Amino acid sequence: MPLAHSVYRTLPRPFIAMAPMEDITDTVFRRVLQRVAAPDLLYTEFAWANGLCSPKATRFKDRLRFHPEERPLIAQLWGRDPEAYYGAARYVAELGYDGVDINMGCAVKKILKRGAGAGLIETPELAREIIAAVRSGAPHLPLSVKTRLGTHRPAVAEWCGLLLEQDLDALCLHARTAAQGYSGSAEWSRLNELLALRDRIAPGTIIIGNGDIKTASEALALDRQFPVDGFMLGRAVVRDPLSLSRTPGSSVARLSETERIALFRRHIELHAEEWGGRRQVGVLKRFVSTYLNGCPRYATLRPLLLRSESHAEMLHVLDAAGNPRAAGSRHATDNPRAARARGGDEIRDAAGASAVEAG
Ligand SMILES: Cc1cc2nc3c(=O)[nH]c(=O)nc-3n(C[C@H](O)[C@H](O)[C@H](O)COP(=O)(O)O)c2cc1C
Repeated sequence: MPLAHSVYRTLPRPFIAMAPMEDITDTVFRRVLQRVAAPDLLYTEFAWANGLCSPKATRFKDRLRFHPEERPLIAQLWGRDPEAYYGAARYVAELGYDGVDINMGCAVKKILKRGAGAGLIETPELAREIIAAVRSGAPHLPLSVKTRLGTHRPAVAEWCGLLLEQDLDALCLHARTAAQGYSGSAEWSRLNELLALRDRIAPGTIIIGNGDIKTASEALALDRQFPVDGFMLGRAVVRDPLSLSRTPGSSVARLSETERIALFRRHIELHAEEWGGRRQVGVLKRFVSTYLNGCPRYATLRPLLLRSESHAEMLHVLDAAGNPRAAGSRHATDNPRAARARGGDEIRDAAGASAVEAG
């Protein structure tokens, strides 16, 4: 039986979740998202179960760093070794996560080659063992699986049927096969097939639909056609973090350039505070278009930001762009505490502005 008391039972219906995304949904971006879009549920990037159990675990454990304001938050694990999953699940429980998710959907070649991610669809017996191992490592945490329709062809009845027999608290389906990668369109009608299967096999399991949703508002409008318990958004949020907000019309495009620069500054500052030199600034560069695409000065700022080699350099470029709250005042790097307080206000201002405009 799924747990009687689990985070999934406390969420609104349908709920809106941010997808787990490697090198994107770290503790920093999750905090930005909580402030600007307040999703109902967040996931970590996937963390390698074996890595979490190894003596040199620091690098792997970084993936599971979080701050209380990110909750409710689910830790996602990947791998193919049940014993490692057992140890990793115990660690996740110790950290105080709201749930543990097993990645059975990643279609990246290097993961598939190891028989992990969506590779587990081909080894259902092992998938079952892994689920049992995670359950015994974290018996009080809700347990979920995120998967795809199948490997080369949709196999909802066989594959998802088997998963539903494992008494999962939640099952998330990205409605594409592994072979599809991201090509074509997500086959949302498969979610209705899964819902019928769930009602028959495991009525207590929460179903989360994923694939190609552009905004939280679009998800909420799909609710009648595809009455899943929750919707999960991924790539759209990297293009526009405010697309995850339930407020209709929320979009970074509705913020002023100054507000967008303030939002990006805050993201960079949080990243510097959290990771210092431990994570490369390279990962921040994919957010240049997230925050600035469409701004009048995007074409000027983009190459300068992409060439930057440090947090300070990126902040300097943004300050020099004439952000009136930052230009000429060296405050961002001189006084981190004041910068933190100011950044919070700027983000709330920015999110609030969009809500007011939309309202
Ligand atoms: C850059 C990137 C990283 C991803 N990392 C993960 C991951 O760590 N774990 C996971 O389950 N899925 C991962 N995914 C898949 C997403 O969670 C999601 O299932 C997929 O993007 C489809 O949803 P979307 O159409 O809303 O983007 C990743 C996708 C992308 C594009």
